[in-house]
Amino acid sequence: MSAWSHERRDDPTPCRAQDHGRFEVTQRDGRARLGKLHTHHGVLETPALLPVVNPNIRTVEPREMWDKYGIQALITNSYIMWKHEDLRTIAQNKGVHNLLDFPGVVMTDSGTFQSYVYGDVEVGVDEIVAFQRSIGVDIATMLDVFSRPDMNATEVEEAVRETEARAAQSLEAAGDTMLNGPVQGGVFRELRHISAQLMGSHPFAVHPIGGIVPVMEQQRYKEYAKIMMASLPLLPPNRPVHMFGCGHPMLFPMSIALGADLFDSAAYALFARDGRLLTPWGTERIDELVDWPLLMPCVAHQTPEQVRSMKTKEREHLLAKYNLEVTLSELARCKQAVRDGRIWQLVEQRSHQHPALREAFLWLTTAPSFERNLRPERFYTDRDAARDIDRDRGMWEDAWDWVVWSQQTPRSGGIQWGGDDTFSRPHIAKARRTLHMRWEGSGETKQAIVFHGIRGPFRDRINDVLEWLDHHHPTLQPLILTSLGLIPASLEDLNPFAHLDAPAWVLRHEPETAWIQRELQRLGFSDVAFATVDVAGDGMKQRLSEALESLNLANEVHQPMESSQREEARNNLRMRQGIAKQMVLLNASKDVAMAIMEGAEFVVNREGRVKNINDGQGQHLFSPRLRDGGMSLANAGAQAMLQHRLEPKPTGLPRTEWWGHVGKGPAIVVVDDDAEPFVRKGRNVFHGFALGCDPWLAPGQPCLITNASGQLLGHGVAQCTSTEMGAMTKGIAVKTRGGIGKEN
Ligand code: GUN
Repeated sequence: MSAWSHERRDDPTPCRAQDHGRFEVTQRDGRARLGKLHTHHGVLETPALLPVVNPNIRTVEPREMWDKYGIQALITNSYIMWKHEDLRTIAQNKGVHNLLDFPGVVMTDSGTFQSYVYGDVEVGVDEIVAFQRSIGVDIATMLDVFSRPDMNATEVEEAVRETEARAAQSLEAAGDTMLNGPVQGGVFRELRHISAQLMGSHPFAVHPIGGIVPVMEQQRYKEYAKIMMASLPLLPPNRPVHMFGCGHPMLFPMSIALGADLFDSAAYALFARDGRLLTPWGTERIDELVDWPLLMPCVAHQTPEQVRSMKTKEREHLLAKYNLEVTLSELARCKQAVRDGRIWQLVEQRSHQHPALREAFLWLTTAPSFERNLRPERFYTDRDAARDIDRDRGMWEDAWDWVVWSQQTPRSGGIQWGGDDTFSRPHIAKARRTLHMRWEGSGETKQAIVFHGIRGPFRDRINDVLEWLDHHHPTLQPLILTSLGLIPASLEDLNPFAHLDAPAWVLRHEPETAWIQRELQRLGFSDVAFATVDVAGDGMKQRLSEALESLNLANEVHQPMESSQREEARNNLRMRQGIAKQMVLLNASKDVAMAIMEGAEFVVNREGRVKNINDGQGQHLFSPRLRDGGMSLANAGAQAMLQHRLEPKPTGLPRTEWWGHVGKGPAIVVVDDDAEPFVRKGRNVFHGFALGCDPWLAPGQPCLITNASGQLLGHGVAQCTSTEMGAMTKGIAVKTRGGIGKEN
């Protein structure tokens, strides 16, 4: 007996009665989320892996899973129990937790999968749900109709229709037991849409995505990604999504990035049976190994050769544990990546490990709107191929927008360059779209100067020059070409543009005219002459002088400026920065941003950087942030934003997320009377207390908090999208940054 087997982990604490069945999100990275599902057998932390336990053949004992591996939930098959008299009797008399000797969350499946493998099952729709309830499972599954990828549209439609037709009676039979409502639809996008919408309209607790096992077995991972993209955006966001039968760690990063919360794995045991090892990059056979692909605790003292010579049962048990350990460690890696805001970076890294995964990744991240040549003079890349081959990718734009829209930007910390894939990370796409949609230059601009050649922030290198240009050429638009795109100089320190950690040659790439022109157009400059200036190394002023000359502008860049002129220019630049940041980060229209900045004063630190922006009466409006180039709202700034709002105040909770919101200011969240005193004291807004919000609310974005009569209570940073605000019932909705004291 090994040492650990003496250690017994405590039984779980049941959730509070009023929380039963609720799902809350505690952290997120775009659509990837860490959550908690509240059950009578503990609060299940997600993403979670539910190992499949066959009640007849227990390769790894459920007790061992609980005690040793900290596994909080497992899945077993109620149909097998129902069919075997002995199991059925024990389960009904003692409950499923006792039968399995597992104190955590028990989910059961219904026999649908058996009907897919062996043909029809004999059990009734109500009967199997009632049985699951009678044995005390935490999450039961209705008898859905499996939609295979080789079925035609008519057959799949019938599966979708029949599954939905069984929903109401299954829910009735489940009573207060949480019930899985699977989404079917084969490989048909519209049928997945319909199934997700139909199943989502019934009060299920969890939505598994069904019919994907053959897709995964055939390694059609692009198809798998399409199924996720067709289903998840249409499901209620307050319910966890379970990928039915997905237990290969290779698929975890991509699935989690697209919003999956639960996985189940029979693979750990099935693969162990024929000597196969799971790894995050695929599957390996033990026959051929001298060393372990990953050295896991359970084999720390044994070589593959020693394990090969074990008795069959003993070897199978050890390899099943090995597979479980690998699977759990990849899941842990994904969870940490979500916390670190790097889940898409992990997806990108993992995509290189299997051609089918790479294909899926390229298909996902190569939106038709993605620019060929985001960086200059590329040859025909795999990304171009991915787009050209998949001509229907355009139909998926809405789903990709759903991913991009939820990304938090700006973020703190460096963006790690990882080759061309870097440029299609969804949070970078979000940052670029936000800039292009919201920033507004001057319609008068006819000429621009484009600085390039170093990593941001640029100010130390170009501030003097910008002051000089402001004084001598006030209509000339200064811009900076970063490796992530062209930005106005007033946003020189904005993340991610200013924060790319990359080899020097990525930053020093020769700027390409056609690319700059396209970028200028995206910023709203269609007919603007420009010249470029490399700011790295000596001789920058000389290069600037030549650039100005090429634009037929006065070019005496060495001409000194009087200190009053410098002071005025500095003030103009600070004003412009305050206006640009209000537009891009607070969604203010240019007119509003200018009105708010009128008469503004700047509190600067010793290095001359603006710490606070105050209005003419000395009231604190905003604080530019060093770490991400963002700008925090202060109470008076929030008040000013609210006063300038022209859009009617939100009156309800939206059912859709809507992005055509440019210039309408930060989203408003309306909270009820119970929440008002708490928000005024600066406490967070919890789900369930919001009466309304704007459809453009997005995670990581500043928002204003008001009561129903429109009075400002505070401001904060949204933790969710607008549809999530309408659907979630537990967890933090807005992290409050400022509360506005007593009623005025
Ligand atoms: N297990 C794997 N796939 C499925 C499915 O589509 N439905 C059910 N109920 N169980 C599954």
